[in-house]
Amino acid sequence: MRAYLLTGYGAVSDTVRLAEIADPRAAAGEVVIDIHAAGLNPIDFKLVHGALKRISKYKLPRPIGFDASGVVTSVGPGASKFKPGDAVYVRASRDTIGTFAEQIGIDEKLVAPRPATLSHPEAASLPLVGLTTLQGFGRAGVRAGQRILIHAGSGGVGTFAVQYAKHLKLHVTSTTSSRNADFVKSLGADRVIAYDRENYLEQGGGYDIVYDTLGGAFTVDAFKVVKRGGVVISLSGPPDRDFARREGAGLLVRIAVWLMGRKVYAASAKAGAAYCWFFTESNGDQLRDIAALVECGAIKPVIDREFAFDKLPEALAYLEAGRARGKVVLKVR
Ligand SMILES: NC(=O)c1ccc[n+]([C@@H]2O[C@H](COP(=O)([O-])OP(=O)(O)OC[C@H]3O[C@@H](n4cnc5c(N)ncnc54)[C@H](OP(=O)(O)O)[C@@H]3O)[C@@H](O)[C@H]2O)c1
Repeated sequence: MRAYLLTGYGAVSDTVRLAEIADPRAAAGEVVIDIHAAGLNPIDFKLVHGALKRISKYKLPRPIGFDASGVVTSVGPGASKFKPGDAVYVRASRDTIGTFAEQIGIDEKLVAPRPATLSHPEAASLPLVGLTTLQGFGRAGVRAGQRILIHAGSGGVGTFAVQYAKHLKLHVTSTTSSRNADFVKSLGADRVIAYDRENYLEQGGGYDIVYDTLGGAFTVDAFKVVKRGGVVISLSGPPDRDFARREGAGLLVRIAVWLMGRKVYAASAKAGAAYCWFFTESNGDQLRDIAALVECGAIKPVIDREFAFDKLPEALAYLEAGRARGKVVLKVR
């Protein structure tokens, strides 16, 4: 089969190449999936640039890519959830990435039936952003009626999060540029703050939850608008202090994590609000929950652009430019 391999860390043009490699075989508990479409996420180019090399000791060259939709072609010993011909979607775990390929062999526990109403590209656009939002909102313990600020409501994560928050009956404020303000409103946001026209820090605070998809100064500033007793859930800020323990990291990494979080923890203590950061976990059961949300009409996938399989470098560059409205997808078949 053909698969994109990561051969080193650096620029995509220097390190990612399309190669012919052996077809995967379904090992115990695994299924092999013929991939029809693969979803892109910022973690893909960050991984190429080396962002995960300290915590995931990848043996290179290796396939990359987290999200996919496709059809099961074979089933390994002991795997019982799927049969050949089943349409499925999946978010690979950090150890099993490899969806920018024609096939993948993967633990059936990470796989779920493809939402019946979706095409393969639509289904491939959802796993990572959907799991991230279910898990982030779960950590925040969100409840109906709470007020949430979702940064970058027009992005891959944001387009899912705005819809999911409305489904849970939260009051949603979201930031984006004026170019995307009407679009984010159309996803259900109660209020949109266009960052090129207004400073969200001057538009009132008191949020129960801030969903920080942007990182940098946005993480520290989240504590200026979250209410006492509230929570800042960050996807892009510094790892929280429990992260090193969860990852089983050594002393040096623990110290580095502690130092990286100093400003955020000072802001959190001053505001009397919690800080939580996490890495998305792959989970087939939660993908079934997401399929149910799609099938009942609560979530609609938003695809900005589809790229042909041989255009992965262009697709990654497009996503990395940071202006995607919804998701970027690779058409594999
Ligand atoms: N920790 C984890 O496990 C985890 C999981 C998922 C994602 N993440 C991280 O979360 C981040 C967001 O991911 P994503 O997939 O949503 O990225 P994305 O799709 O690339 O985000 C692009 C969107 O961000 C908007 N944006 C850019 N600057 C903005 C600003 N200053 N204010 C408001 N909106 C702004 C853009 O809108 P305009 O064009 O209108 O500016 C665009 O629509 C990434 O860094 C990703 O790595 C982490």
